[in-house]
Amino acid sequence: MNKAHLTIACFTLLCITENFLQASCSLVFPKKFLKGVALSTFQNGGSRHGRNNWNIFEEQKNLLGRSTIKHGHSSAKAPCFWDKAFHDIGLIKDLGCNALRFSVEWAEIEPKEGLFNQEAMDFYEHYCDELLKAGISPSITLHHFTHPDWFDELGGFEKAENIHYFVRFCKKVFERLHSKVSLWYTINEPTVFSFMGYISGWHAPGKIMSLARAGVVLGNLLKSHVSVYRALKAMDGGNSAQIGIVHQVLQAKPYFWWNPAHVLTAKILNFCFAHDCVKKFLKTGIFHYEIPGLSSLWYEDENASKSYDFIGINYYSHVIVGLGATCYPNETMTDMEYPSFPRGIYEAIKDMAELGVPLYITENGIPDQRDVNRDQFIKEYLAQVHRALADGYDVRGYFYWTLMDNFEWDRGFTIKFGLYDVNHETQERYLREGAKAYRDFFTLE
Ligand code: GCO
Repeated sequence: MNKAHLTIACFTLLCITENFLQASCSLVFPKKFLKGVALSTFQNGGSRHGRNNWNIFEEQKNLLGRSTIKHGHSSAKAPCFWDKAFHDIGLIKDLGCNALRFSVEWAEIEPKEGLFNQEAMDFYEHYCDELLKAGISPSITLHHFTHPDWFDELGGFEKAENIHYFVRFCKKVFERLHSKVSLWYTINEPTVFSFMGYISGWHAPGKIMSLARAGVVLGNLLKSHVSVYRALKAMDGGNSAQIGIVHQVLQAKPYFWWNPAHVLTAKILNFCFAHDCVKKFLKTGIFHYEIPGLSSLWYEDENASKSYDFIGINYYSHVIVGLGATCYPNETMTDMEYPSFPRGIYEAIKDMAELGVPLYITENGIPDQRDVNRDQFIKEYLAQVHRALADGYDVRGYFYWTLMDNFEWDRGFTIKFGLYDVNHETQERYLREGAKAYRDFFTLE
């Protein structure tokens, strides 16, 4: 073998080794796939000028006379989105992301009914421009659990006659930003909003076992979604925009299939989280929410099944009903009341694929304060998304929840979903060890 042959042989060996390492150390997704992170403005920045339903809720006390937020934490201590958003674009970039899902804060944009704050609009426009410059495609959630205090005082989504306020706000935002943003999410997790706000009482407005009202709110959120979809589609830029809803796919399961208490509780939870109700509405246009003797809601909306260009799936896990917060043997618990269940994300994709439109995983992440399971969680869940793609499901993107530790609603700052850890005193951000899997394991062709 002469020198030239030796060089070629070495080069070939190097290439083979590199490909092998690449294949075993990372999952390769199509070039156009969105690799993103998701966040909400309020959870990262609290309120600046406007006041919203969560500011009201944070000031209340629960039935035991305690703060509604764990340890009395306040959203005012959130990681400074309003000041650091532009700086943090670099953190998103460092993860190798090409997309961001964030929410616009309605109370900031319309702090008083009909009064639109141009400064807030300018902020979001500038933010989109800077994201685009960094090669990160911005996508916007129009309602992520928060709305202005004035809207709340009018009855919020408890009243169908208030929907037009939300539509007007969405039109203003869309008018300004449609040329920069191609993916729009109308409402984040209508079932979580209605369950947590009106049944468990853990979220604003903190109403407990208000079962009938939970149904009304859920129905109105779905109506709002359809109205916003139709209104935006009719505007300039509407045709080219992709507009959808974000739904959390969550199933409760009994620990013992033979234990009637487990089975019944799981059934009730599934009913209250209303996955079937939402899916049926999106598929057929029929909204049916029934609690014997308490509430019977039925309406049909002929536009519902044509009101989404895609579906956003938020998927975390399943909930196992047994003695306290538990999981099946061989599963690992997260820091919240559920285990890690990677196969579930594949099942959620398969389930929602029945709606016949492209799918995005708009949230998936792990609460893991000690950062001991994050690496494995990321790899296992991503592998299931990759499998779904290989099986022909039309999944177009994945957004990790979330960029950095933030205000986790009623849990305050006790829950750590972030890829970046935040020092709340100095506001410095540090990439977690386990988060490196997201940067390195998830690659695009
Ligand atoms: C939700 C929201 C996020 C949460 C996240 C973690 O699902 O409640 O969309 O705002 O912070 O899901 O719980």
